[in-house]
Order: sequence, then C-alpha cells, then structure tokens
Amino acid sequence: MQVLVTGGTGYIGSHTVVELQQSGFEVVIVDDLSNSSADVVDSIASITGIRPQFEKFDLADGSRTHQFFSDYPDLGAVIHFAACKAVGESVTNPLKYYRNNLFSLINLVRGMTDHQVSNLVFSSSCTVYGNPDQLPVGENAPVKQALSPYGNTKQIAEEIIDDQCKVSSFRAILLRYFNPIGAHESALIGEQPLGVPNNLMPYITQTAMGIRDHLNVFGSDYHTPDGTAIRDYIHVVDLAKAHVTALERMLKGEMKEQREIFNLGTGTGYSVLDVIRSFERVTGMKIPYRIMDRRPGDVEQVWADPKKANEVLGWKAMRTLDEMTLSAWKWEQVVSRKNKA
Ligand code: UFG
Repeated sequence: MQVLVTGGTGYIGSHTVVELQQSGFEVVIVDDLSNSSADVVDSIASITGIRPQFEKFDLADGSRTHQFFSDYPDLGAVIHFAACKAVGESVTNPLKYYRNNLFSLINLVRGMTDHQVSNLVFSSSCTVYGNPDQLPVGENAPVKQALSPYGNTKQIAEEIIDDQCKVSSFRAILLRYFNPIGAHESALIGEQPLGVPNNLMPYITQTAMGIRDHLNVFGSDYHTPDGTAIRDYIHVVDLAKAHVTALERMLKGEMKEQREIFNLGTGTGYSVLDVIRSFERVTGMKIPYRIMDRRPGDVEQVWADPKKANEVLGWKAMRTLDEMTLSAWKWEQVVSRKNKA
C-alpha cells in the first residue's frame, strides 16, 4: 500500500514515516521544506534502509497538487501533517495560517476525491478543547472557541473533513494530539525548531546546551500543585505509532463511523517544573530558570483521557517522561554538533 505523508520531513511526520515503513507501507512524502530540511529524507533512509519518495511543493498550490495525484495513481491513503504550527505567530499573521493550513487541506481533499483516494488520517490538536471544563479530556468534551488562528484552522479543518465525509465515501480519522516531545532512539530525527524555540522541550535542551542563557517558566500562580501549567506530554514515537494503528484500522474496514476521533495522550499531566526535574534527573545537569508572567493564551491544565484510543485502536503510549526528556537531550547533542560542523 502506497501512503502519502504530507509534511513528512517535519517533526511528527518524519517519525511517522519511519513507523509506516517499518510496518511495510510504501511512503511518498510531500513537503515544501518551509520548516524542515531535505536531509531528513536521508536520515529516514538511514534508520529504515528504505528511501521514501519525496516531492517538494506547496499543497496550497492547487494545480500542482492535482498534478501530483495524477503522477501517483497507486496511492491508497493520506496522512496529512503539513501545516504551520506556531501559536504565537498565528496571532500576528493570521492570513498565513488560514492560507497555508486551509488551502492545503482543501486542495488535498479535492485531489483525493478526484482520484478516488478515500482514506485520510488528519493531524489535529487538543487545542480544539480550549480551557476544558473537566479533566481528563475525552473526545466528547465540547470544542471551545479557539484561542488562536492556529487553533481555529484545526477546528475548521475538522469541519471541512466532516462535511466531506457526509457527501461521499470519504473516510477520516482525526487524531487530536496532546504535547509531543522527545526524539527517535537513533537520534537521527527529532524536532528542529527554526530560531528561538516556542515550545518547552527544545527550550530546555537548548538551555542545557548553553545556546540559551536560561529558561523562562511562564507562570507560577496557576491553580496546580506547584503553580506551573500542566500538559500531557507524549513521546513522539508513541504518537507516530498511533498513526500506523489508525491507518490499519481504516484499511481493514474496522471503522464504526465514516469519521472517527481519538485523543492521543498518556493520560498523565506533568507541570513545567516536573519536566525540568525529569530532564535534570536523567542528564545530571541543572537547568537555570526564571519565573515569568503567564504566557498569553496558555491553558492552565490539560491532559487526555486516552481510553478510547486504548480500547478501540488498541494503542497505548508506552514511554515515560524520563524517556522523553532523555531522548530529546540525545537529539539536541546531535543537532548541536551538526550545526557547529
Ligand atoms: N513554557 C514555558 N517556557 C517556555 C516554553 C513553554 O514555561 O519557554 C510552558 C508553557 O507556558 C506551557 C508549557 O510550557 O505551560 C508547554 O508549552 P509548549 O509551548 O511546549 O506547548 P503548548 O501546550 O503551548 O502548545 C503545544 C503545541 C501546539 C499545540 C498545543 C496543544 O506547541 O502546537 O500544544 O495544546 F496546539
């Protein structure tokens, strides 16, 4: 089975390509390399021994996307990651987000429909739940007013996919991720933020590496045990494996509805200080940090109820927080060496 992975040179995409190849799928990557590098294709090939096919173009280009589907008539399914994902940037440049994230989805779904490719796994986010009323968050929790244009693009994308399922034989699994961190055990692929990282884990590893002077901890007055915000951190390899499981469910015809939703998290929430402590424990290093004001738009606490994914998909996140932070550190050391060379 040939599978298109859009955004396949990105962080979650590259880990998913590895898992797909190791499960026997043939992968075609489409990525415009706006936030990743073509070297990732080599790294994937080093891990799996199989070089995925790679096409560089922007899915927001409708005619190029249409041409792509004509060029690859054997595609059986699509996993769609390609999107911009910086929450803060989406607030200052909303049109970039609506254009990139929604034009690409529309072109993709159009191309799939025109070429009778009806299986889609979509990369959604727990941001659709906003500040949840109840914890842990199950799939039936209400979708709340988005806190950023980025979050809104995920909500609108889910609605576009829903509506398409109603009028065709299109099938979709929407995966709502919590906070992916960590890197592949080979330390050949991982997260590579451009410039100053927005996210906690790469900021911690860059601080340990001496690239950043100290970590800013955004808020210590939340209603949580240690006052810092809580998230459900999930190892990116566990997350990647869930995509293979979801795809297999779809291809085996096991879906109960044309459109299914799964939360992908561990079910355990950790505070910012918990993550720092884990990093310090596994590396023996100290992370200098300063407590700052809350970051605007941040949710206080959110973690998943992964029961549906556990029971229906038969998937469970296996890796611990310490494994996540240690793998992130191993990857940071490789990246820093590469950047210095
Ligand atoms: N944080 C810090 N200092 C930093 C960076 C982050 O204290 O330098 C804190 C944040 O305030 C937050 C926690 O660490 O409390 C996690 O922040 P991240 O930026 O790592 O992750 P977010 O939960 O804000 O966002 C992530 C992804 C989004 C996705 C969202 C879903 O980056 O793409 O999860 O909730 F939409």
